[in-house]
Amino acid sequence: AYRAEDDYDYLFKVVLIGDSGVGKSNLLSRFTRNEFSLESKSTIGVEFATRSLNVDSKVIKAQIWDTAGQERHATFENVERWLKELRDHTDPNIVVMLIGNKSDLRHLVAVSTDDGKSFAERESLYFMETSALDATNVESAFAEVLTQIY
Ligand code: GTP
Ligand code: MG
Repeated sequence: AYRAEDDYDYLFKVVLIGDSGVGKSNLLSRFTRNEFSLESKSTIGVEFATRSLNVDSKVIKAQIWDTAGQERHATFENVERWLKELRDHTDPNIVVMLIGNKSDLRHLVAVSTDDGKSFAERESLYFMETSALDATNVESAFAEVLTQIY
């Protein structure tokens, strides 16, 4: 059947939050435009981009909001704060995923996969390690979130 280019069955909103420099904007650009920048500027305010995915022969249009991180220190320790802020201001039924980005920087890893995983389990979050740089798991992470919403 014919589908207009901007025709979709569902519109889902995804918001990227987390400390400054963790790679939110590059995850967004990797997923929506397959682009990565080594010298991206810190986000000011909020921006969004969209991409459509097929799930079960339905077209899901994802509207992904990129926010400014502001904080710039122990990014994993701050996850708890981000999570509290999120839970205080959103519906309890939203889908939340913890993303450990920059998995390409293996020699600099500060948080083990197991620590990320057990934190996520404790807090009932989905969890994925990604790299916006080499594109590892970026597609799977967004697809998983969108499929869980669906
Ligand atoms: P704010 O907008 O300040 O909140 O930061 P942000 O979370 O949007 O980070 P941004 O995407 O701007 O990335 C910050 C820096 O990390 C940039 O120099 C990116 O090139 C780099 N970066 C982002 N993702 C990755 C990654 O997966 N691997 C590596 N090695 N570097 C990354
Ligand atoms: Mg940014």
